[in-house]
Amino acid sequence: MEGAGAHRPRTTEEERTFMMRKTLRLFGLMLAIALVAAACSSSSDDTSTTVASGETTETTVASGETTETTVASGDADMASQVEVFSWWTGGGEAAGLDAMIVVFDAAYPDIEFVNQAVAGGAGTNARAVLASRLQANDPPDSWQGHAGQELIGTYVAADQIEPLNFLYEQEGWLEVMPDTLIPLISKDGNIYSVPVNIHRSNVLWANPTVLTDAGIEMPTTLDEFYTALDALQAAGMEAPLAMGEQWTTMHLFETIMLASMGTDAWDGLWDGSTAWDGPEVTQGLDDFAKILTYTNADAAALAWQDAGQLVLDGTAAFNIMGDWQEGFFREVGSEPQTGYTWAAVPGTDGNFQFLSDSFVLAKSAPHRDEAIAWLTVAGSLEGQDAFNPVKGSIPARSDGDRSLYGEYLLSAMDDWASDRVTGSLTHGVVANDSWKSEIDTAIGLFLIDGDVAGFQAALAAAAEASG
Ligand code: GAL
Repeated sequence: MEGAGAHRPRTTEEERTFMMRKTLRLFGLMLAIALVAAACSSSSDDTSTTVASGETTETTVASGETTETTVASGDADMASQVEVFSWWTGGGEAAGLDAMIVVFDAAYPDIEFVNQAVAGGAGTNARAVLASRLQANDPPDSWQGHAGQELIGTYVAADQIEPLNFLYEQEGWLEVMPDTLIPLISKDGNIYSVPVNIHRSNVLWANPTVLTDAGIEMPTTLDEFYTALDALQAAGMEAPLAMGEQWTTMHLFETIMLASMGTDAWDGLWDGSTAWDGPEVTQGLDDFAKILTYTNADAAALAWQDAGQLVLDGTAAFNIMGDWQEGFFREVGSEPQTGYTWAAVPGTDGNFQFLSDSFVLAKSAPHRDEAIAWLTVAGSLEGQDAFNPVKGSIPARSDGDRSLYGEYLLSAMDDWASDRVTGSLTHGVVANDSWKSEIDTAIGLFLIDGDVAGFQAALAAAAEASG
């Protein structure tokens, strides 16, 4: 955790440069392949042959030396590399991934890690890019997917990933991965991914100085939360609850629904035992509508880090966000209890609304062995203890080294072990992609028209169609 301070998220400009460099690297690679191909076919002073899948070719280069290259399936770039796809490009997330890449590079110095991260919180952009690649039968070797319905109801349902039971057996992972998680990444006895972490979604982040100055304690119930937000507004803080772009609104929605309905009713939404058109949902939506009145008007233009920054700056008092927000806070040099503080979202204490990032093995992965090497690191103790303290999550493995984790993450480890665990909607646990996307559409409309009854009817119709 302590190593995180030196990093900060890329600015838009830096992001552009980063993407441009990536594109240039890709062009460079293509150019190199073209040059090799040209050399193979036209040079008169070499001994090259046309490269066919799995064949070894001999090339006499200008210096007179002969090189030998084994080509896996006809492409020069099919050699030792692994393409890993995620949305971790900034705000503690890229730094976390980098820390795990260091472990990978040390364990597999001959395999090039090709980092195909696409910017955009919660994978909003990345998942669209991934979907079109999968559609085009051009999968990355391994990609980030959430444990739960996102994995099972989307990638497994579409037969896009391979079971990994052999790796679990080989690495003894069933001994160290939590029982809660295995069913969420399994279907018909097959285990489909390697979880790298556990994140908590129901966290209220706050600026302690703002609260102290206003004489406000951290709220523990929704009513206390409303009282605190009213007091802050009365004192001139226009938008005491910072929010960002639309997926962060869904994130707010899931935590306020949990607070309002309780965990039994929330869980029941996903197994059919709670009626979407019933009174508990109506109450939850009324609470959500009220909470939105305390948020910033420019939310749609802000990333989750921007919303977090409003809290650090004291422009807002609160933000509800998953605990990757702490990775960002630490990355920009803020300190727990002075720069920021936290509690469970009011009304959800004792409940841990969770999600888990995991990595999969593509069916027909272009670099299958290398992908397995990557997954081996992703599931290893060393990999997880390098990644999570920086990322702002706790290890999926139960044997993480507590001495590496900061104050917040230690509290999350304790809560994960003792709280009632329930799933996140926004981050893939409870609903598959198509259901989630219908809910997202309903939220989008509600943000425009504010019609609670229409919103509830749309949610009920979504459950009917996809649930
Ligand atoms: C979640 C993901 C987290 C973090 C967050 C913000 O979906 O599980 O690891 O990346 O999005 O981007």
